[in-house]
Amino acid sequence: MKERLQELQQEAVTLVEEANDLKRLQEIRVAYLGKKGPITEVLRGMGKLSAEERPVIGQLANDVRAVIQEKLEAKEQQLEEIEIEKKLSAESIDVTLPGRPVSLGGQHTLSLVVEQIEDIFIGMGFTVAEGPEVETDYYNFEALNLPKDHPARDMQDSFYITNDLLLRTHTSPVQARTMEKYKGQGPVKIICPGKVFRRDDDDATHSHQFMQVEGLYVAENVRMSDLKGVLETFAKKYFGEDRKIRLRPSFFPFTEPSVEVDVSCGMCSGKGCRICKQTGWIEVLGAGMVHPNVLEMSGFDSKKYTGFAFGMGVERLAMLKYDIDDIRHFYTNDYRFLTQFQRER
Ligand code: DAH
Repeated sequence: MKERLQELQQEAVTLVEEANDLKRLQEIRVAYLGKKGPITEVLRGMGKLSAEERPVIGQLANDVRAVIQEKLEAKEQQLEEIEIEKKLSAESIDVTLPGRPVSLGGQHTLSLVVEQIEDIFIGMGFTVAEGPEVETDYYNFEALNLPKDHPARDMQDSFYITNDLLLRTHTSPVQARTMEKYKGQGPVKIICPGKVFRRDDDDATHSHQFMQVEGLYVAENVRMSDLKGVLETFAKKYFGEDRKIRLRPSFFPFTEPSVEVDVSCGMCSGKGCRICKQTGWIEVLGAGMVHPNVLEMSGFDSKKYTGFAFGMGVERLAMLKYDIDDIRHFYTNDYRFLTQFQRER
């Protein structure tokens, strides 16, 4: 019996040593130490032993059981460690692998330019006003000194919705809306960026939808020289300090006198080139002194108040500054185009 027990111990220990997974260990445990295992069997047969032998064999059986138990536990721990090790190396992160670049969204080129324009005018004391894109005939035309059959209405082909409603053809109606809000009390000093719509055929320089920035300054003693100063400051801050402006006589129903404003060509510094059609100047906006009729219609006393107004096309300003050759780039949202313009800080 003694030999049998020693044999069993030897057998079990060898099997444990050879085992290479936890499942196998469990099988060995059940086979050797389980209720139906050989050691239990030996213990069961102890009744047949003599009184001297019984405690010796009993002790031995317990020792054998303990040894196997111990070996099993040690092996179990070892296998678990190997398993963890394996898991860790499988899940480990290779920190030397270059990361995938995350592309951050950016501002649309037009928003970027509008922001630059706003910053410049805010710096000169203007605030930013808004108005609706669907406008009444009254604000879009009549309040701007363009009565129903005024020939100048033909200057702008409009998208009418009803007889009285249209998509605004310019941001100028915001002048009238803002003045009404001020109820005849100046100063009014606003700019209004926004979308405008015209029935134009789209090509490299025309779009049926585009953006304008309107400007209006009404107060006592506002003069043409104030207009010139503000626009010159704008041109220098937007295009560069070396730029100059010039005013040419023009016509708008809502201003008198009216002017067309040119900025000196940045390409040839005014010497004349392809961009400025050899003139040295590039037309950038329309402006003038607010017509007394416009002031009066919006509730301002034209004897007491004077003002200037201007309107400029945002796409045009962007195209000139960034040398963009086709207005349609702004609306086709080609990623390769858009990512070339980043916010200036
Ligand atoms: N509204 C004009 C246009 O769409 C631009 C303009 C010219 C606005 C003169 C003005 C201005 O305020 O005084 O072409």
